Amino acid sequence: MNLPAPPTPVLVACLLGLGLLPFALRLARGRSVGFAALVFCGWAAIAATVARATAPTPADPPVPAGERPLEVVADEYVSSRSCLPCHPREYDTWRSSYHRTMTQLATPAAVRGDFDDRLVRGDYEMHRMERRGDAFYVDGERVQMTTGSHHMQAYWVSDHTGRSVSLVQAVYLFDEQRWIRRRDAFLQPPVGHRRIDHWNTSCIQCHSTHSRPRLAANIDTQINEFGIACEACHGPGQDHVSPASSKYLA
Ligand code: HEC
Ligand code: HEC
Ligand code: HEC
Repeated sequence: MNLPAPPTPVLVACLLGLGLLPFALRLARGRSVGFAALVFCGWAAIAATVARATAPTPADPPVPAGERPLEVVADEYVSSRSCLPCHPREYDTWRSSYHRTMTQLATPAAVRGDFDDRLVRGDYEMHRMERRGDAFYVDGERVQMTTGSHHMQAYWVSDHTGRSVSLVQAVYLFDEQRWIRRRDAFLQPPVGHRRIDHWNTSCIQCHSTHSRPRLAANIDTQINEFGIACEACHGPGQDHVSPASSKYLA
């Protein structure tokens, strides 16, 4: 059976405690037990403070995978992570670029809009933007993904037809720090403008890598990576990274 490893600060505190125990006992022999207890408590307070200060901050909880496109590395695409060992410089500059953050899961690190219980005007009606813990909601629907990292950000909620999402009708502008109606942000054809609602019909091609809309009765969308990853521009990397076929490897 595998027990989870105790966090480092707790281990450090325990070792310190064992080391200090004889010291506290010796003090207790010479003086009062109360004095030893005082020393011990003082140490415990310091250890607790250190433990709290050095404890790792928990990672964002993942956005549940049930009602959004799924990241599945498939076919001849290998994902940006596999480029890292050989191209660390390109990987680093890409990681800090708008390309990587263009489409992301709606974690607290990704969401930049004001979800502080706001009532916001959309294309046709008002919408309530809320944050509960690390999750974001539009009219009670969990925000699944974000698109935009440069001037504005748009948000996607499930459309309840499978792994398929639709576009929230308000968009957040970074510089102005305010919400605007979606139709004031995107050019749309004069007829049939609701095409813009669906991630699968067009946005997916440019805002994720190796997209597979997989439109069936129960839509099951897959992509290799959210955002503009290495292979969006350089093409599938399998031949290039595979030891069997790479001309770069001896
Ligand atoms: C096992 C090591 C390795 C991996 C993994 C790797 N590459 Fe390379 N790549 C190389 C080497 C070696 C070169 C040749 C460098 C040179 O000529 O300066 C190269 C060259 C390139 C070039 C330039 C080609 C040219 O014609 O100038 C591109 C673009 C590139 N790699 C993209 C990628 C991408 C995208 C990935 C991830 C999908 C990737 N590489 C993964 C080793 C690797
Ligand atoms: C043909 C490729 C293509 C398609 C299809 C596409 N986009 Fe884009 N999109 C881009 C490019 C390129 C940019 C970057 C423009 C810039 O930064 O100036 C962009 C930028 C954006 C931005 C915000 C830019 C920012 O960070 O400020 C949003 C939001 C966005 N697209 C949403 C969508 C949505 C929603 C759809 C589907 C209705 C869509 N895009 C379809 C190529 C595309
Ligand atoms: C938005 C498109 C785009 C993305 C995303 C992108 N690249 Fe490039 N990359 C280019 C272009 C264009 C060039 C050619 C630059 C030139 O010739 O000056 C290039 C050049 C390169 C080269 C050749 C050497 C060099 O630095 O000029 C390597 C290696 C490379 N890219 C690897 C990567 C890797 C690895 C990633 C992901 C971590 C990545 N690229 C993401 C467009 C892109």
